[in-house]
Amino acid sequence: MAREFRLRPSPIISDTTPQGSYNLDRRKFMRYSFNSAAGLITMASFGSIGFASLLMGTRDDAGGSNSISYWVPKGQEDNVWYGSKHLESMKKSDFVDDAATSSTGMSGAQGVWGGMPVTAIYVPHDENKDTSTSTGKPRFQFADGEDQTGAIIGYGGEIEEEAKWSVLKIHDNMIIVMSRCPHLCCIPGWQLVPNDFTADNWIPGGLDSGGNKLFCICHSSRFDPTVIEKNTNINKNTGAAFNYFGIKRTGGPAPVGIPLIPFQVNASGVIEAIDFEAEGVVEILDWYTFCN
Ligand code: FES
Repeated sequence: MAREFRLRPSPIISDTTPQGSYNLDRRKFMRYSFNSAAGLITMASFGSIGFASLLMGTRDDAGGSNSISYWVPKGQEDNVWYGSKHLESMKKSDFVDDAATSSTGMSGAQGVWGGMPVTAIYVPHDENKDTSTSTGKPRFQFADGEDQTGAIIGYGGEIEEEAKWSVLKIHDNMIIVMSRCPHLCCIPGWQLVPNDFTADNWIPGGLDSGGNKLFCICHSSRFDPTVIEKNTNINKNTGAAFNYFGIKRTGGPAPVGIPLIPFQVNASGVIEAIDFEAEGVVEILDWYTFCN
């Protein structure tokens, strides 16, 4: 796909820790998902939900060992379209049905995968990708991720071009992202609060204007789920820098955006995370453990 635009620079991230000396096993991965003070703080932004119940995770769900489940924030049961589906496995068809009620054809929901909060977003990419962006029809776009000096970290389209990242290719008109804010690790949400950033509209280019942003209620960071970039983040625990592919931060105090999670839609239509370690892309694990 051709590069259609270049986004504004991301803030500088200083890196004082050598890279390459950081190892993390699956147990640590789970612990860093929520079992920390920062993790507990994030609960406030997601609603008054129970920490212990969140750790129930989604293993052994009907959709398979890696299925992603809906998570309905407490008090939102009557406000979100998936309000009656708490802890049910996510199905792509649910998102397609809800998108049909949207003016943009987009849909999204909060979820949980193995104890980690996630957000799933449906975008009618295949239907709209060959139309001009000036029509205002949502589609995924790839962008250069830049630091504040203008240095390009990388191009989001590498996930389509390089075999190593094929596990992250855009498919099924959907993406799944980790739902931890790179600012202070609260949980950004999809249309959980009504404001101009979360309104059901879309503009191209990954700008802060236009709606359908993931919004972090803690300090109002915004993320465009339709813009995929490669950028650099810092692990808050180790100080180590890491590159990742994820969605674009468009505003607020978050230094960068949020990483993608590789997934598949199984034969029953259930959305499952992919075992990226088994796929040989073990460095992806670092993407989900930057919160201390
Ligand atoms: S934690 Fe998300 S904006 Fe501060």
